[in-house]
Amino acid sequence: MARSLGLVVSSCGGVESRLCAELAEPAAARGWELAITLTPTAAEWLADSGELGRLRGLTGLEIRSTSRLPSRPRPHPDPEVFLFAPATAGSVAKLALGLADNQALTVLDDALGEPGVTMVVGYQVRDARFRHPAWQGHLDALASAGVRTHRLEVDREWTDVLDLLPVLR
Ligand SMILES: Cc1cc2nc3c(=O)[nH]c(=O)nc-3n(C[C@H](O)[C@H](O)[C@H](O)COP(=O)(O)O)c2cc1C
Repeated sequence: MARSLGLVVSSCGGVESRLCAELAEPAAARGWELAITLTPTAAEWLADSGELGRLRGLTGLEIRSTSRLPSRPRPHPDPEVFLFAPATAGSVAKLALGLADNQALTVLDDALGEPGVTMVVGYQVRDARFRHPAWQGHLDALASAGVRTHRLEVDREWTDVLDLLPVLR
């Protein structure tokens, strides 16, 4: 089993203080080598909170939030396992529709449905999202492509979502 984990992060409330402690550090402790990509908004929030430096200490790879220049080599490997968490309602909708308007969604859209790829999406959304007529369809579209989806709770540690990843031996 490849140990590389594509960790893709969007701008859910709490990401600026919980990402390292509840997702990135526990994943690294389980043996995953982290290839981290942030949405532009998540990158801004983590830079503002000072957590970017802590995150950099968990990976030997560049933390991405923008596209590379065509003249530069690809900075990340192609992981067989992806965790998109925390995932906002907006980015879940874009992923389900195949929209890739930033580097984080490009990484996910390129990998979705690829044979041999496991993708877990941990979303944190308001209850109101479940009343939106398109929301359940987005979750169903992802499930039909083999994506495991899981709702993150604001008042519960996000770490539980790591249990949906394959077990490393
Ligand atoms: C303080 C704050 C907390 C937010 N929390 C959430 C959240 O938990 N879930 C969500 O779907 N959107 C949340 N949003 C809205 C997203 O940040 C916003 O829709 C953003 O454009 C999503 O961009 P991204 O998915 O590219 O990161 C929050 C916004 C703010 C300002």
